[in-house]
Amino acid sequence: MTGIPHDAPGEPDPLHALDLARLRRRTSMKWRTYPEDVLPLWVAEMDVPLAEPVVRAVTDALALGDTGYPVGTAYAEALAAFAAERWKWEGIAVERTAVVPDVMLGVVEMLRLVTGPGDPVIVNPPVYPPFFQFVEHMDRRVVQVPLDAGMRVDPAALEQAFREATADGGRAAYLLCSPHNPTGTVHTAGELAAVAGLAERHGVRVVADEIHAPLVAPGVTFVPYLSVPGAERGLSLMSASKGWNLAGLKAALALAGPAAAADLGRLPEEVGHGPSHLGVIAHTAALREATGWLDAVLAGVQANRNLLTALLAEHLPAVRAYPAEATYLAWLDCRPLGLGDDPAQVFLDRGRVALSSGLPFGAGGAGHARLNLATPPEILTEGVRRMAAAPV
Ligand SMILES: Cc1ncc(COP(=O)(O)O)c(C=O)c1O
Repeated sequence: MTGIPHDAPGEPDPLHALDLARLRRRTSMKWRTYPEDVLPLWVAEMDVPLAEPVVRAVTDALALGDTGYPVGTAYAEALAAFAAERWKWEGIAVERTAVVPDVMLGVVEMLRLVTGPGDPVIVNPPVYPPFFQFVEHMDRRVVQVPLDAGMRVDPAALEQAFREATADGGRAAYLLCSPHNPTGTVHTAGELAAVAGLAERHGVRVVADEIHAPLVAPGVTFVPYLSVPGAERGLSLMSASKGWNLAGLKAALALAGPAAAADLGRLPEEVGHGPSHLGVIAHTAALREATGWLDAVLAGVQANRNLLTALLAEHLPAVRAYPAEATYLAWLDCRPLGLGDDPAQVFLDRGRVALSSGLPFGAGGAGHARLNLATPPEILTEGVRRMAAAPV
């Protein structure tokens, strides 16, 4: 693994480490969905080498033949230490955690604990498309409460939805995305406490998808949902998957607030058979030993956010990038270009650059596209150049 940046002072920016030729050798979804002439800036994979402690932990496990089933609380302990250090939150109690196969399957299992078939699940579009797919697949009913014009949760609209969802005395859940994909909104402590208050008042259970929590911009504070007053009955999903680019090494953690421990206790034992032992090893090493690498990625993403602003101003001044405080994604309002409901399709067809279509993100997605910033600046620059070639 020579030449791979590692978690040491002065390490190179991981977002400057790989070139296109090397990235094209990858066989994951980002790199193999489209033909070779398409530049992929879509699905949430990062174009970085892995953090050295992660490579070492997984390589050591392979050398040892340590490829059996996962057991124990090492992952939860690593997350608890990370949360205490990073977010000054001491609230992760290992006995109120469970290892789940990944965040979306964790979301499904949490929703299963607190709702039944046909029950409403409230989401805030535009939002990560699998929120619709997984919720519908498990026979729950998606209720859309769009973010407001500033891309923030709208408490009045949420309260109205909570009231309607529980009007017949049935169960309902709110699937919160925090930080929010695709807009990069970081919910404040005040906003989250308001959500918790509304949920308690109306008897709605909150499931918070906090997969992007490690990925907040330098200087921005992430607030864990379970840390706010009133969130004791909440459930959360966290993972090292997005922050350290480990989606292929499956594992995530479900966390229960103090008053949701009994709910999590009803999680069927077989759910714990899904995560990969190598995934747990990789995620644990990331949280424990690779915070320097994460900071380098975050600095690189911030530089790319600024670069995107400059590139759009130069090449596509009509396109508006919403100001994001988290994730490595940029949500682009392309409506002024007049490319119709699905500008990503036009960028693909005419520019040979793949962004995520805004349409599957639900209400507010038409005319929008999502761009993945976790790529070397040269690739980002070429991507915007290709986008700019599309409208003509
Ligand atoms: C908000 C959100 N949740 C979940 C996931 C997927 O996580 P996992 O692969 O652990 O299911 C993603 C991936 O981008 C995401 O953005």
